Amino acid sequence: MCGIVGAIAKRNVVPILIEGLKRLEYRGYDSAGVAVLNGTLQRVRSTGRVAELEKMAASQGVSGDLGIAHTRWATHGVPSERNAHPHVSGGISVVHNGIIENHEAMRQKLRALGYEFLSDTDTEVIAHLVHSHVKTGRGLFEAVRQATSELVGAYAIAVLNEKDKTHLVVARHGAPLLLGVGEGELFAASDASALVQVTQKIIYLEDGDCAELTLDGAKIFDDKGNATNRAVHVSQLTPDAVELGSYRHYMQKEIFEQPMAVANTLEMVTSAQTLSANLFGVEAENILSQINQMLILACGTSYHAGVVARYWLEGIAGVPCNVEIASEYRYRDSVPDPRCLVITISQSGETADTLAALQYAKSLGHKHSLSICNVPESALLRASDLRFLTRAGPEIGVASTKAFTTQLAALALLTLAVAKLKGRLTAEREAQLLKELRHLPSALTTVLHVEPQVKMWAEKFTNMQHALFLGRGIHWPIAMEGALKLKEISYIHAEAYAAGELKHGPLALVDKTMPVVAIAPNDALLEKLKSNLQEVRARGGELHVLADQDTRIMPAEGLHVIRMPDHAGMLSPILHTIPLQLLAYHAALERGNDVDKPRNLAKSVTVE
Ligand code: M6R
Repeated sequence: MCGIVGAIAKRNVVPILIEGLKRLEYRGYDSAGVAVLNGTLQRVRSTGRVAELEKMAASQGVSGDLGIAHTRWATHGVPSERNAHPHVSGGISVVHNGIIENHEAMRQKLRALGYEFLSDTDTEVIAHLVHSHVKTGRGLFEAVRQATSELVGAYAIAVLNEKDKTHLVVARHGAPLLLGVGEGELFAASDASALVQVTQKIIYLEDGDCAELTLDGAKIFDDKGNATNRAVHVSQLTPDAVELGSYRHYMQKEIFEQPMAVANTLEMVTSAQTLSANLFGVEAENILSQINQMLILACGTSYHAGVVARYWLEGIAGVPCNVEIASEYRYRDSVPDPRCLVITISQSGETADTLAALQYAKSLGHKHSLSICNVPESALLRASDLRFLTRAGPEIGVASTKAFTTQLAALALLTLAVAKLKGRLTAEREAQLLKELRHLPSALTTVLHVEPQVKMWAEKFTNMQHALFLGRGIHWPIAMEGALKLKEISYIHAEAYAAGELKHGPLALVDKTMPVVAIAPNDALLEKLKSNLQEVRARGGELHVLADQDTRIMPAEGLHVIRMPDHAGMLSPILHTIPLQLLAYHAALERGNDVDKPRNLAKSVTVE
């Protein structure tokens, strides 16, 4: 979590740093701060959002051609000005993303050296530690290298020294950091979107890298201290990809971008008549034909995508599949199987629990891994043998929307590729399913037209404290996703149940103050689901049902129906996601919440 930006140029870098922070606010928004050199060190910190920081910097006339900036998601210490970055020790100023695990021990050591701590953060340790090494006569680069060798945990840092206006030092270990190369100027940031305004030339630093940035360029050293070159990539990000355009919120924009995001993700198959496993990497055919089971590891919304995929992979490809929450899997004893494919799913590719779960699986003896991820060059993609990059484009709203539906599109492709390799897909069925996939973007566009009806539901949810989401079979994880979306941004407490479980306990909660949302496609479980809905109606529960055209579920007193298009077969879960996203969005709007930046959350969860 947290976003960092750094810049060295022959012009005032404050507007560049502030603009970068605005684009990184999705990573955390508890406080923000900037420090620049202009003769002396000028530092401004705000407990408000970046817009507030911008005003403060302008009113205090802050400017300089070398600087660092930070937007915070609080871990150690409450959101407050004294805990906001940059942290300063002597002339050393530091911004940090990550967690220093040995900060307690380092605090004691530094206190013994006479350092006084002014914040509750783990980051302040870094500032004092670097300062203690500069004091012994080391240059900034050497001081940072020495300090990082004493730190345990994860960090991406940018450091400047008030007494040396010629360079900035950055380092990373377990948290993302990249460099942006301009004309006679250099930048550093947590992700490329922060720099889209100034450059598209990006250098991704590797874990353990430490770099010195001057106006002449970057000197990069690897984890062993050897000078190294890292390739310059040209980012495909354009400024308008991260602009709101005519939308009110990023979440709204991202919901409506889904037809295009899914079309882009499926581009490789839109013109093909058959599917090739090599969509997942050059080794994919070889690896996928060897495996005899799958283990999916992910968190939050990405976990829900994994649960949907389990129904596909077992039902269509006939491969046994387990799905586990990454933060649980990484701490339990389990039995590895060298013929199991470990699949990690993540929008950001930097979720600490998912990355650690993958490392743990490998350490247990799992041999094959595949990552499905939306961020090129992310740590997760680089840690896997096979990879699939969803092409949702940048997702800025904290609530995941287009990342989820594109993950599902990718997992549908994986299912078909595996089913084909396992001899479970006739050519005719393959052609039919590919046709359905090609039709998916236009089906999504049609479903988006239900928005006015969903908005009416949302108005009624506004004053509710709780809601229940029901689904059966493959639509149960979609109910889970609907409940997660609603609680995440509207703060209405919501739970999801497999509808058959209702009578085993949660039915006791149902009364007229508990709206119940049910997903009722015309599939094999429809009649079972209808019985569950009767159980709700009989207790006075208000039902809100997403029903396929031909389900014969008719609106009645206490029974509200939104008609979905014809049953979409295998792809039905993807279509049913849309109204649930819209429901959460409009309920949050009605309640006056900050839709894109819900309280207490951040987009990238890079801590445990
Ligand atoms: O980046 P990831 O997909 O690994 O993130 C996992 C979860 O933190 C994320 O999906 C979260 O649940 C969403 N923000 C919910 O909308």
